[in-house]
Amino acid sequence: MYHKILQLTEYFLLNIVRKFAFKRWNNMPFGKEIRASRNEYLKIAEIARNKSYPEVDDFEKETGFRIDQDWYHELALHTQVVVKKSEINYVHGRLLYSLLSQFLEQAKYQSINILETGTARGFSSICMAKALFDANRNGKIITFDVLPHNRKMYWNCIDDHNGLRSREELLGDYNMLIENYILYIQANTRTDLEQFQVSRIHFAFLDSTHEFAYLMPEFFYLKDKQKKGDIIFFDDYTPDLFPGVVKAVDEICEKYNYSKRIITISQQRRYVIAVKL
Ligand SMILES: C[S@@+](CC[C@H](N)C(=O)[O-])C[C@H]1O[C@@H](n2cnc3c(N)ncnc32)[C@H](O)[C@@H]1O
Repeated sequence: MYHKILQLTEYFLLNIVRKFAFKRWNNMPFGKEIRASRNEYLKIAEIARNKSYPEVDDFEKETGFRIDQDWYHELALHTQVVVKKSEINYVHGRLLYSLLSQFLEQAKYQSINILETGTARGFSSICMAKALFDANRNGKIITFDVLPHNRKMYWNCIDDHNGLRSREELLGDYNMLIENYILYIQANTRTDLEQFQVSRIHFAFLDSTHEFAYLMPEFFYLKDKQKKGDIIFFDDYTPDLFPGVVKAVDEICEKYNYSKRIITISQQRRYVIAVKL
């Protein structure tokens, strides 16, 4: 009896703590109203679609892998095209697809584990799932975000015109990829990662809070789970905008033995491919 009461109290308290910790993210974090008309979202999408990125074209030629462009822009319309002050740019999806496809071709593992921090609306995890599917390979993508997967909300995207939706509903057209490859976890990567143990992480995309104090704990979580040839991909390696990312990536590569390849798209957008030596 005493044991049962203890168990119930524990369950009750843990639930309260969890509810409190994620309150902000569970409660319409992108606003309680639709941010733009359908046409406005389509216009933003059109502009983003027509931009060219020669450095990314070159990277795709080098790897020999290029994501299906119509598929990719359609996914971006639902998961990347939002109203915001800064420029819409989602080429990291192309880079991730090419890089992961090349890794799968070269590494020949039976199955691989992929970690992503910062799921957002799900764009990058679905691009990575497509790479696994197109290569006909097994793998699991574990993606973390403070945002919930099953709560209905507005997402500041064109789909808001169909009413409140959960991320699961927003990504309904990608169910086959999701069921086969993706695990969504609502967690704070700064404090909660240790609860989720996997022995190996072959490929990682660290893309949550772009600050040193967040990136380093994420790296420490995965550092002993990587072996020679494994990869970490970083977005926003941009000194003026994200000095914390630059500091963390430099420290990771120098102190923990990773090679560092920088891909520069513009002054505002630089990516790093770090390979464990
Ligand atoms: C730049 S977005 C990720 C974009 C996504 N990778 C993509 O390509 O579509 C950053 C995400 O990190 C999440 N985030 C920020 N801090 C976090 C934390 N401490 N733990 C988990 N997720 C976090 C935010 O909620 C946001 O959705």
